[in-house]
Amino acid sequence: MRRNGTLLEGLTEETMINKKENMETMFWRDASLYILDQRLLPQKKEYIACHDASAVAEAICNMSVRGAPAIGIAAAFGMALAAQEAMKMDFSPDQYRAYIRDAADNLARTRPTAVNLTWALDRIEEWLRGNENASRKEIMDGLRKEASKILVEDIEINRRMGKRGSELVPERAAILTHCNAGALATGGYGTALGVIRTAVEQGKKIHVYIDETRPLLQGARLTAFEMKEEGIAATLITDNCAGYMMLQQNIDLIIVGADRIAANGDTANKIGTYSLAVLADFHSIPFYIAAPLSTIDNTIESGKDIVIEQREPSEVTTFLGLQTAPKGFAAFNPAFDVTPASLITALITERGVINKPDRQKISRLLY
Ligand code: MRU
Repeated sequence: MRRNGTLLEGLTEETMINKKENMETMFWRDASLYILDQRLLPQKKEYIACHDASAVAEAICNMSVRGAPAIGIAAAFGMALAAQEAMKMDFSPDQYRAYIRDAADNLARTRPTAVNLTWALDRIEEWLRGNENASRKEIMDGLRKEASKILVEDIEINRRMGKRGSELVPERAAILTHCNAGALATGGYGTALGVIRTAVEQGKKIHVYIDETRPLLQGARLTAFEMKEEGIAATLITDNCAGYMMLQQNIDLIIVGADRIAANGDTANKIGTYSLAVLADFHSIPFYIAAPLSTIDNTIESGKDIVIEQREPSEVTTFLGLQTAPKGFAAFNPAFDVTPASLITALITERGVINKPDRQKISRLLY
């Protein structure tokens, strides 16, 4: 599906054919990054034009773009935009690089939990270090190309993960998922939803149960939108219905994404994931995490070291802008929780599936 001028540099024809136009999480055109405003979905499909790095940082902060891999890709393009902005200023070569690095610091501060954000910024930094003698124009072009590469690679990684993960999905499986780990949360295709997509492409007749995912409704708004667009059979449930579904033996497996995986396999994901893992354990239902290797943070020993983003209480005391709790009422609103590795049946990555992930198995997978 080719749209004039919207093809990202480096994006292959095949990748574009496999991507649905209305699922494009972001694209580059005329020296700007266009980000699909996910706050408006599924009612409206509008893109935000980011002409500079601070606009990208704002889009990550306000969750126009969200999902661990997607915010990393957006941040990488943010650095490319910073390189472009700096071209207009009368900078020495050192000042030029310092300006781009300041933009990276600003982008890194947007959301603390998903490691893919810093992973992508580090990769751009690595490009800068590896091209010490590049001219300003070469840096500007090089960073844009590197960001495009990260995006294209992410889609390929998701497809590989999809193939590996789909082997764990039986025919006619009823699958529960939480939040949105789909095309919208990545460069395209998705991690947890990528596994589901592949299983469907293989002809498996599966049914997806979607937790609505309070408070921001990534399940009800985004995962439901993706399933509808793809024509995948799915049913929306409230978050507090999940246990009942498992008790009724209506769920065969659970699959979710991840924002950061510690060296021992403890995994941070959307708040509510831990409760699902405990329920899955109680009901002997397989609980799978699908995540690229870039989500593994080997610098932290366990989930205790993962910083959990705390969000505005007003997201809990309101519902779609309507005040539901008494005005001024206290609310606690962590965006993520950590599921201990002991509750994870398997970790699905692009390099392979690790059953019962632990420190040793993860380290073997990485090196
Ligand atoms: O707060 P969000 O919407 O960015 O949270 C997203 C999630 O928790 C996803 O499950 C995770 O980032 C994996 S996305 C492939």
